[in-house]
This record gives sequence, structure tokens and C-alpha cells, in this order.
Amino acid sequence: MNQSPSLINQAALITGSDSGIGKGVALALAAAGAKVVINYAHNHDAAEEAVNQIIALGGEAFAFQADVSHEDEVKAMFAQMFERYGTIDILVNNAGLQKDSKFVDMSLDDWNKVISINLTGQFLCSREAAKEFIRRGVVEDRSRAAGKIICMSSVHEVIPWAGHVNYAASKGGISMFMKSIAQELAPHKIRVVGIGPGAIQTPINKSAWDTPEALDKLLTLIPYNRIGKPDDIGQLAAWLASDQADYITGTTIFMDGGMTLYPGFADNG
Ligand code: BGC
Repeated sequence: MNQSPSLINQAALITGSDSGIGKGVALALAAAGAKVVINYAHNHDAAEEAVNQIIALGGEAFAFQADVSHEDEVKAMFAQMFERYGTIDILVNNAGLQKDSKFVDMSLDDWNKVISINLTGQFLCSREAAKEFIRRGVVEDRSRAAGKIICMSSVHEVIPWAGHVNYAASKGGISMFMKSIAQELAPHKIRVVGIGPGAIQTPINKSAWDTPEALDKLLTLIPYNRIGKPDDIGQLAAWLASDQADYITGTTIFMDGGMTLYPGFADNG
């Protein structure tokens, strides 16, 4: 019986995988047998470190710098991937950032930056991947699907977030983007799935966990009473990309220790 998800001989691109959740996903996909592209925006050394970690574990990887909100850079990244690996089987749209401020003080630049990386970046990368999946079709000995797209969302796809309206709007947008392309691409045997992480211990939310006081406050929002780790999300992504999840498309799986369970109502209301 096939126990662990297998991604052997599949090529995966994970955007923003030089750190945080993206790196956790890249390591997990590589451990399941995928060849991976480590995309990064600025930090070349961190990307090379991720590549080296994968190679040290017997995997295959290379790093490519591209800003996912720039069409020409995204196209160049896919061209390089097709040259090195021949095709793409799995896209993980992970690159994302926060630029937080009170709504009335939010600059147009901070609004545009977050929407362009978090949402437009997913559009640009998904479009390139989908064209290749449709061109190539299903390859029987690799996967039952012609391709898999995983859209990294957030609990803030459904939990409103004061002080972070650009970020929450981008994640709400990802939800309908993901579902709409899932509907359009399913007849081509392409699966599109969202992951909604809760609080995962990464640089993006360092201020929420790097002191005992901050962590205690954060844990009041997490019924399961622990912060998540990048590998939690990595394991889910590897499973979702595998044929074990072949009948899942067009939905977001929340992985949040119960953050979406309205924990404030546990002893109130
Ligand atoms: C945000 C983190 C936050 C978490 C839970 C994530 O999407 O990027 O900063 O800790 O949601 O609120």
C-alpha cells in the first residue's frame, strides 16, 4: 500500500521559498521526491542555503531570482525551469508579504505592493503553469493530474484583520481567484487548492512570538495551544500535491490549530 505521498520525477516551483513557509514547503516537496525551483526576491544567500539543504538530503534544486509581480521576470523563471527540468508539475504560489498600518494612514504604495506580490503574483505564475499543464497533459507514470497549483492563503482569507486591510484583502482575493481557476481548469485535469495557515513561526510574524509575553497573547487565539511550524504546512502541501489528494480541487484547507474556530467564544457569547 502506498503510505507516504510520492512526488517522484515531478518538477515543482515554490515562490518565495528562501525562507519561512515557502522553504518548509520546498523541503517537504523535495523529501517526497520532487525536483524544486527555489524562487526568491532578494536574499540570494538564503536561497542558495535552501538549495544546499535539499542537495545534502539527496534532492535536486536550483535557485532563481524573480519578483513575482513582474510579468517579464515570471516568464524568464518559467523558461529557465523548462530548460532545466523540461516542464512543471506543481506550482506553489507562496510569495507574500505584509505592509501593515492603520487603514486611514495606509499609503497607496503599501496597498499596491501587497496586492501586487500576494495576488497579482499568483495570477502571473498560475497562468504560466496552467498553459504548460494544458500543453503537456497528464503523464501517466508521474501523476493522475496534468498539474497541481497550491495557492498559499491565510486564516485572513476569512478572519478580518484591522491594521492589515491590504493583506486581508489580498488573501480574500486569493480565495475567489483559486476557486475560479479551479472551476475553469478542472476539465483539463488540473487541480487548484488553497492552504490557509494560521500563525506559523516565521520572520513575517516575528513580533507575535519572539517574547514570552507576545507568544502568550498569540496563544489565546490558538485553541490547540501551540504556534505552527513551516514543516506543518510543508507536509500538507506535499500531500495536497500528491495523488493521495487527487479528488481535492477548489477548496482551501485551513491549518491553524483552531484559529478559525472563534476562540473568543469558548467562554463568552
Ligand atoms: C500572517 C501572520 C499572522 C497569521 C495569523 C498570517 O497570514 O502573515 O502575520 O500571525 O496570519 O494571524
